[in-house]
Amino acid sequence: MSTGYPMTRIVGLGSFAPERVVTNHDLSKRVETSDEWIVSRTGIRERRFAGDAETTSDLATEAARRAMADAGVNPEDIDLVVIATITPDMAFPSTACLTQAKLGLGKVCSFDLEAACSGFLYGLDVADALLKTRDHRLALVIGAEKLSSIMDWEDRATCVLFGDGAGAAVLAKDEGQGGELLGFFSEADGSNPSLLCQPGGGSAHPASEETLRQRQHYLKMNGREIFKVAVRLMERATRELLEKHGLTPADVSCVIPHQANARIVESLAQRLELPMDRFFCNLDRYGNTSAASIPIALNEARDAWGFENGDHVLMVAFGAGLTWASGLLRWKK
Ligand code: UT7
Repeated sequence: MSTGYPMTRIVGLGSFAPERVVTNHDLSKRVETSDEWIVSRTGIRERRFAGDAETTSDLATEAARRAMADAGVNPEDIDLVVIATITPDMAFPSTACLTQAKLGLGKVCSFDLEAACSGFLYGLDVADALLKTRDHRLALVIGAEKLSSIMDWEDRATCVLFGDGAGAAVLAKDEGQGGELLGFFSEADGSNPSLLCQPGGGSAHPASEETLRQRQHYLKMNGREIFKVAVRLMERATRELLEKHGLTPADVSCVIPHQANARIVESLAQRLELPMDRFFCNLDRYGNTSAASIPIALNEARDAWGFENGDHVLMVAFGAGLTWASGLLRWKK
């Protein structure tokens, strides 16, 4: 489908997970849970936690360095930085600005984008549009999270689910090899924010003794409700995008789903009538890393599965907002 704009493509990928591995067994020493419960309800076996001094921008910086090395580009070549995160180093300045400085990039346009677990796909969509319509040639799009910094250790229903990490993509506006960005689909519904939120610390509930006492600075989630809508809306995001490009689920070689819960991925596979071996999953090793989940999985899928020329790769996510989104790549070798 020609849009009249130049084609953009992913020319480099990289990811980074902190060194510290935390197993379900480790968690069972801290909260009332078990490896059996976590594995059977979610598929998660372990996750990585960043060190106390390690920030989201540190994780983003390392993932970006790896993506730039993979693309064979230098820091001074980058024209734009977009970081998707719900766990920025601080409210402001943006994690993108902090990462730009750590990477030694030029004084290029750098901003954060917040769409929770759909953030990396929203970010790719925005960067793709900016590359197409501006003079920029190369963009860094990063999903990075230190979710361990907002986990409530008194809520066993959420603290066992999340992990820290970052994934990055270098986007280029030119013809050549890599993952051609064919298109995106994104929607949002803000009518029920309390389904998944971090209520404290913003203008609605500025930090106070009361917000601390009510544990409002931690992530809150209605898991059961989120599960139901996640499956339905990820199916919608997949079908809408494929249909627009004259494709069906069967035409997709690899699906990169948001890595929240193996049962959500299985339900999505059933609805799309696709076998599970088309879905790349690494949530057993990282848990849910929100905006970092899709780029980490995309990077690992490319390395593990070795995409072939013409392969269609479909990325699909769902998260707080609520937000949901999909993105379609065609691999070119
Ligand atoms: O990335 C953003 C999107 N977020 C998601 O995709 C999360 C979507 N939701 C889910 O993945 C699932 O709903 C959860 C994994 C969060 C929970 O699984 P569930 O099967 O929906 O469990 P539940 O919340 O219905 O809880 C079932 C039981 C409860 O006990 P009772 O009331 O039946 O006695 C919970 O108290 O499991 C209990 N429980 C636990 N037990 C051991 C909840 N958390 C734990 C735990 N360990 N960590």
